Amino acid sequence: MELIKVTEQKEPHVALIELNRPKELNALNPQLMQEVRDALIALDKNEAVRVIIITGNEQAFAAGADIKQMADKSAIDMLLLDQFTTWDQIRKTKKPIIAAVSGFALGGGCEFVMTCDMVIASETAKFGQPEIKIGTIPGAGGTQRLTKAVGKAKAMELILTGRFLSAEEAHFYGLVNKVVPKEMYLHEAFALAKEIAQLSPVAVQLAKEAINRSFETHLDEGLTLERKNFYLTFASADQKEGMKAFIEKRKAEFKGQ
Ligand code: CAA
Repeated sequence: MELIKVTEQKEPHVALIELNRPKELNALNPQLMQEVRDALIALDKNEAVRVIIITGNEQAFAAGADIKQMADKSAIDMLLLDQFTTWDQIRKTKKPIIAAVSGFALGGGCEFVMTCDMVIASETAKFGQPEIKIGTIPGAGGTQRLTKAVGKAKAMELILTGRFLSAEEAHFYGLVNKVVPKEMYLHEAFALAKEIAQLSPVAVQLAKEAINRSFETHLDEGLTLERKNFYLTFASADQKEGMKAFIEKRKAEFKGQ
């Protein structure tokens, strides 16, 4: 891994992926995104990992897809490159992913963040889809996910002007879970990750799948999947332990089985 750094057990059951192209403000080139895909596949298979945090650095989560690598490409070059197939792994990952964002999360960087499951932002974070300013449009889900997150009118404004949202505004519109001082954003992401990592990983993954389905399907189909996953938790030892512990008034010990 050259352009990202992966620590499998930064805290027990919590893995950290750091995007690491600081000179380019973590611009997301195909190599970096392939490394992210490979890391997510490996962490999803690693039974010791229950929650994944993805971060950049204080200055930037990521300032978008790499403009220098795309500038001279033709439409057919872009079609054949098919770079967004690699990005699909972010949404396909079964374990929860928390984005810890400081500084710029623009273009593909904002789309990357919106593909994660939860977002902790430093007060310095800036979100936006400024592609229109360089003569293109979002290509990694921005028109869909930003619209679902902030509503049509605001998404139109942001995507058609390229304006940035401050961390506070992003919080107001429901794009991020929490805004904290700059020195606290990673700490806060770990606090959230550790809280989730204590719970049944089986139930967490089934709940994540059901929530994500609400964005992809009609209510009837979403409710059917939710019900199926709810029943499936009753096949886990974690559900038996969790309910038994509640009745016995003690803390549950979840083993992921
Ligand atoms: N691609 C490639 N390089 C980038 C980059 C990007 N998206 N963003 C920043 N960089 C590079 C800059 O070219 C610069 O490199 P040099 O030192 O070699 O010149 C370095 O990172 C530092 O950037 P700046 O000097 O511009 O820093 P700044 O603090 O003055 O400005 C910024 C920061 C406002 C984020 C500005 O860099 C910027 O506007 N970046 C581009 C943002 C953007 O348009 N993103 C969308 C990309 S297209 C996309 O993402 C399509 C999609 O949907 C997938």
